[in-house]
This record gives sequence, C-alpha cells and structure tokens, in this order.
Amino acid sequence: MNTAAQPPLDIVIFGGAGDLSWRKLLPALYMAHLHGRLATDCRIIGVGRNEWSREQYVAFIDQTSRAYVEAHAMQAEAWQGFLQRLDFVSLDATAPEGYAELAAHCQPGSIKVFYLATAPSLFSQIAAQLDQSGLIDAQCRVVLEKPLGHDLPSARAINEAVARHFREGQIYRIDHYLGKETVQNLMVLRFGNAIFEPLWRAPYIKSVQITAAETVGVGTRAGFYDHTGAMRDMVQNHLLQLLCIVAMEAPISLDPDDVRDEKLKVLRSLRKMSLSDIVRDTVRGQYTEGVVNGEAAKGYLQEADVPENSRTETFVAIRAQINNARWAGVPFFLRTGKRMQNRHSEIIIEFSEPPFSIFADQAAASTPNRLIITLQPDESIQMQMMAKEPGSGMKMRPVNLNLDLQSVFTERRAEAYERLLIDVIKGRLTHFMRRDELEAAWKWADPIIEGWKQLADKPKSYPAGSWGPAASSALVARENAVWAEAQ
Ligand code: BG6
Repeated sequence: MNTAAQPPLDIVIFGGAGDLSWRKLLPALYMAHLHGRLATDCRIIGVGRNEWSREQYVAFIDQTSRAYVEAHAMQAEAWQGFLQRLDFVSLDATAPEGYAELAAHCQPGSIKVFYLATAPSLFSQIAAQLDQSGLIDAQCRVVLEKPLGHDLPSARAINEAVARHFREGQIYRIDHYLGKETVQNLMVLRFGNAIFEPLWRAPYIKSVQITAAETVGVGTRAGFYDHTGAMRDMVQNHLLQLLCIVAMEAPISLDPDDVRDEKLKVLRSLRKMSLSDIVRDTVRGQYTEGVVNGEAAKGYLQEADVPENSRTETFVAIRAQINNARWAGVPFFLRTGKRMQNRHSEIIIEFSEPPFSIFADQAAASTPNRLIITLQPDESIQMQMMAKEPGSGMKMRPVNLNLDLQSVFTERRAEAYERLLIDVIKGRLTHFMRRDELEAAWKWADPIIEGWKQLADKPKSYPAGSWGPAASSALVARENAVWAEAQ
C-alpha cells in the first residue's frame, strides 16, 4: 500500500482579480470544493496588480463570484470554507520583485499549478520570472488561457517562450469546449459503439454542421473583441476542436498524445483556402440593432468602446473541407455568432438519403437521418429517423430516438472549467491542446483572416436576434442543406 502523503497543492491564478477568474475559475473551484474534490491542503492564490490584502481579495471574490455559482449550490458553510482557501499576492507580472513574495505564499514542497488568465502578451514574461524565482520544478504545471496569439507567428512566439521554462508535458492549453460533457461523450458514442463507425465517412455522411450561437453581445469586452473577432475568438479554437472530435480517426488509446496525434492529422488535412474559396465559402457578419429574448439590443457599432467604422466580424459561417480518404467531398459547415436568436450549440451529422426509395410518393415527407448532438443550453443526443405514421397506408414522418442522458445519469455534471481544472490537478492532458495542434489551427485560420483583409469589404449586417446574414443560409443551400433551426 502506498502510504506516502500527497504534497499540498497551490493553484496560483495570474489575473486572479480578472473577469475570467471571478466569473468562471473561482466558481468552478468552489464546485470542486463543495463536492469534496479539492484536498484539504489545496490553496488558491490570486495574483494581480491591485494593492490588496488577502482580506480585500476574499471580500472581492465573495461579492463577485457568488452570482456565478448556481443558487442551489451556494451553501453558506461550504462557501466560507472555500473562501478560507484563498490568498492574494499583489504583483506586477513583468517585474521580478513580487515573485519572491509569491514563493513565500506557496506551501513548502507543494505541487504548483500556475494558471495564466492574463493577456497572452504576458505569458512569456511570467514564465521567465517564475523560472528565475525558482518556482518552476518538475512537478508544476502551467495552464494557458486562450487566445494563444492572434496568428501563427504570435502563437509560435508564445509557445517558444513558454517552452524555455516548461516541458510540453507540463503545459495545459485550455479550450473549455473540450471540457463539455457532450463533447467528451461524442468520443464514447463514436468509439464505444459499433454501429456508427462504419457509416462515419463519405459517402454515408452528407454534411456536418457545427454551430455555436450566443445571445450575448460583446458586452464590456470590446477592447479585446474588436481586434479579435469571431474567427479568432471562437472558430480557430472551439469550433475547430469540435470538428476534430467529429472527424478524427480512432486513436490507439486515450493517452494524451495518441488522441492529440489524431486531432492534429485532421487539422493538417483541412483544405487551405484561396482567395476565391474565401469569397465562395465564408460569410462574415456584424450585428445591427434588433431584439434578443424580447429586449431591444444595440448594434455592434453602438456598443461601448467599439470604433464607429469597425469591420470586426461578430458572426462567421464557413464551409470547410477535410482532404482525406474518410471525408473527401463532405462539407463541414461551421457557424458562430453573437446576438443570435437563441443560445444554442450543436453538432449535426446529416446522413445521406437511401440510394433508392420505394416510397417515391412520400418524397416530400422524407428527411435524411440526423444525429443531433446538443452541447447547450441542454445537453442531449438525438437520432432523427423516418418512421411510419400509425394507421392504414404508408405515411412517413421523422421521429427522434432520444438518448435521454439527463434521466439515465442523474449524478451531477461538472461544468467544463471544473472538469478541466480537475484534469490539471490530476495531471491529465488528453483534453488540452498540444503545441502543434494549436499552430496547425492558426495555419488554417490565418489565410482566411488575411483574405478578408484583402477583400476590404464590410461584414454583412444581420439584426440582433436573428440567425445571421442571409448569405449564411445561401452558403449551405448551395449543397441542399439548411441550418438546423430552419428545418
Ligand atoms: C469564449 C469566448 O472562449 O467562449 C467568448 O471568448 C464566448 O466570446 C465564450 O462568449 C462562449 O463559451 P460558452 O461555453 O458560453 O459557449
């Protein structure tokens, strides 16, 4: 029996007073605490420029993070216990001075997780300062938040800088979409069942749709968002990661490198787009004023801190193509947007129609089989099939086979950040991006962003509360497809 005591754990969050920390990371860590998933000697050290004492930081988190914990999980005693774990170090990330103090706040012999929730321009300096202060050892880990760069050269520069101080096996590049339950379930659905895999290819699959639609606008993030746009914010990472999970070959094991090798192959097989492909196969949009969830919403150009002539896209639709034997000719339609009609993220696998139909008089009623994997707002997996309507005659109607995961698995489902933070603590890298994956994703995205610049046209407008510009429907209609909500 191994009786050796586990070393204590220090989770050090750079950007500890920032938006991501109080909205996502601390509520996620609280949930882990509430459900007994944090060891007693796990401490959380917020790091930021504010000249705060520990008490001030605790008061700040107490005020801000509360609203982001689901009401039923907010238990006074547990919350107070969680706040006890917090500490704060005031430090300018670029200057060496504060790092000695940070070292003094860490527990002796602890395993350290450094979560860099700051602007990526600070990553290399933070890594260097941590190294110089002797805080990096073989056991520690570093978590890098997206966006990792704004193009391939900047992503490479960050990766190289961080690699001077951490081994690749210590680097956790987070993409929270990989922490979503249904995304992880998709791997089980594909590789744990025999029925899908033989059909999971051209010509049995006609198209794949991946949508991440949000109702929120840019909010207070214009400073970041206006020079980022939907392509860098959502497509280059979240949507491409979903595409990888749908399209990859079966890995030889669940070992991180085996899974990531397969995802990398998908990214490398993405057809590189020429300028004429970009004109034909991409749509950029920007929201104008409208109504979302019954409330008036401003247009993007009227949002605080958005330049009046901004051409930043808040919506993207792309017809991507994977050039390999499995997927040749199958369109992958990717779509994301802010201020859309509903918050809805899903993957739809549309199968080809039967090669010959004996129900010719029912052609109008016939719809292709679809596997619908919904990520949010509610997680579900449904298979749309044709069935006979009861009664005499042979009338067909689509019905859903519903994999009702909520009622089968009644246990709690952790949110993406909680799940991924636990992975970091346990040293599990499978659901994090490797350096070459990230760079391959930029390699595909960069020419599209560059092409849009050259084309010098404005993004197409769409009213807030709609499903994006009309050109987005035309993009899929060309291949006899319709976006899910139009069906
Ligand atoms: C983030 C983007 O990565 O993902 C945000 O920066 C976006 O702009 C968010 O709102 C969406 O995440 P989710 O989990 O709400 O779909």
